[in-house]
Amino acid sequence: MKKGNHLTWHHSSVTKKNRHLLNGHKSCVLWFTGLSGSGKSTLATAVDHALFQTGLRSYVLDGDNIRHGLNSDLSFDAADRKENIRRIGEVAKLFVDSGQIVLSAFISPFREDRKLVRDMFEAEEFIEIFLKCPIQVCENRDPKGLYKKARKGEIPEFTGISSPYEMPSRPEIVIETDNMTIEESVEKITAYLKDKKIL
Ligand code: PPS
Repeated sequence: MKKGNHLTWHHSSVTKKNRHLLNGHKSCVLWFTGLSGSGKSTLATAVDHALFQTGLRSYVLDGDNIRHGLNSDLSFDAADRKENIRRIGEVAKLFVDSGQIVLSAFISPFREDRKLVRDMFEAEEFIEIFLKCPIQVCENRDPKGLYKKARKGEIPEFTGISSPYEMPSRPEIVIETDNMTIEESVEKITAYLKDKKIL
């Protein structure tokens, strides 16, 4: 059975706004998207660290980690990637409702799937961050040796090699990870959050 038809939504007496007041900042999702090796986890972790150091409430949802647990039943075909991203969107929504800043680091290669998540949030709550990095650079970095395996045909449907990556058309932030240091990138993202009065 797909959906229960006898469900009632329970509203909490503590609102998201109440939680923002308690935390001293608004909540949002920083949605990092980009090729494998583009620096998503590294940068999300660095921003998380910087936010934590200033006493803000944030949390990283990371592709490899989530696929070990919550989404361990999913493959890398297009349908399962869609379901992967849908579930992450729902988890991110819970975190945002709890007043936190969520940093999600998933390849999320399909525009339609990212749009599906964007539509779960208020406009100002969803901040798409495109880690723009040429595939040659990602492949040279190859931190996990996955490109090498993919080139040998050992990993089917590998993003950028045998499965597409659709670049965001209007991301809120673009980070060229082959041209910017981690510190500069963290600064660009936190400056955006301040400018939008999230912090
Ligand atoms: S997706 O496309 O958003 O559903 O992918 P995601 O959940 O972010 O998982 C990406 C990480 O899984 C590893 N991996 C693969 N990536 C791409 N394609 C294939 N076929 C694949 N198989 C395993 C890889 O470690 C990815 O992590 P990153 O950090 O992006 O390198």
